[in-house]
Amino acid sequence: MRSVIDILDLSIEEINSLMDIAIDIDTHPSKYAKSCEGKKMATLFFEPSTRTRLSHEAAMLELGGTVLGLTGTESSSAIKGESVADTVKTVSCYADIIAIRHSFEGAALVASKNASIPVINAGDGGHNHPTQTLADILTIYREKGTLSGLTIGICGDLKYGRTVHSLVNGMTRYEGNRFICISPEELTIPEYTEHIFKEAGTEFEITDNLEEALPKLDILYMTRIQKERIEKPELFESLKGKYSLTVDNLAHAKPDMIVMHPLPRVNEISVKVDDDPRACYFKQCMNGKLIRMSLILKLFDEMIINTQKDFSPKGATYFGGYCHNNKCITHIEQELESQFYIDNDGVNRCIYCDYEISKEAK
Ligand code: ASP
Ligand code: CP
Repeated sequence: MRSVIDILDLSIEEINSLMDIAIDIDTHPSKYAKSCEGKKMATLFFEPSTRTRLSHEAAMLELGGTVLGLTGTESSSAIKGESVADTVKTVSCYADIIAIRHSFEGAALVASKNASIPVINAGDGGHNHPTQTLADILTIYREKGTLSGLTIGICGDLKYGRTVHSLVNGMTRYEGNRFICISPEELTIPEYTEHIFKEAGTEFEITDNLEEALPKLDILYMTRIQKERIEKPELFESLKGKYSLTVDNLAHAKPDMIVMHPLPRVNEISVKVDDDPRACYFKQCMNGKLIRMSLILKLFDEMIINTQKDFSPKGATYFGGYCHNNKCITHIEQELESQFYIDNDGVNRCIYCDYEISKEAK
């Protein structure tokens, strides 16, 4: 069964073809209006969402399909303690494709291993958000005309911002991109994202100074400080409002720099910036719907031509040991055995959340 849990589940060629189809859908929507007739999408959102849930639903409806879904843990039997595995085995009886968002890292991978229908990761804790990255890549391509040779500033909460982790995984695969990681020290990129830069040989620098970085950037990707994932409220209070893009500081940016944000924005970008032609965050919302339409079509196609193939990007794995990330799904899912892979540097990582495990912990 083909699912998309990580942006690495898709090859560059596949991403390029998803973009071509998304652009064609934009130009000729009527061609696709009946493509999913008779098919149902289940949206299982155990965390809040506006864009990701509604864009998946709009995508399915515009393809002629229908949708059913759950919003919030409280409205489903998850509140009674039902596991992710049992939930998706049940939903596989009622729907043809699932989009799932969950607060635990690796929950979407557990869903894909247990569902008998394709699963789309709509955000797993602070880990990954691959369809946001598809929306981001399409936006970059449409606005900049290229996906290579760009200086990309990622700013805000780089530790818990799952869109950033997936974006780094996506954009380091294109030639000659360079990253400037702008965050307070407490919210710097996690070790597994830093590892992606090193493995890809991508140039990156770490700073807390937005003003200094701004003139160098082709893309500024702003993010919200993830209040819900920061354990100490006093830490959130001390960091909120640290970065704010205004009309004044935007004057120091390149005239063709683009401003991106996965949204929701809290106060990282002044509303006045919305009128600047460089502001692209609402274009990301539209591109998100188009590329999700393209992805849904692809996953249904792959069900027919390729029901068995395992597309895991992580290679060989082994069972045993313990993941020390307390937000990893292995800590709440019934009888889920820990499973690890060894990366190209010989580091053992949890398959669910990519956390490094120490040799002693094995
Ligand atoms: N909406 C994005 C996410 O769910 C970004 C955010 O919430 O700040 O990851
Ligand atoms: N970009 C994004 O994931 O938005 P929502 O959290 O509103 O779905």
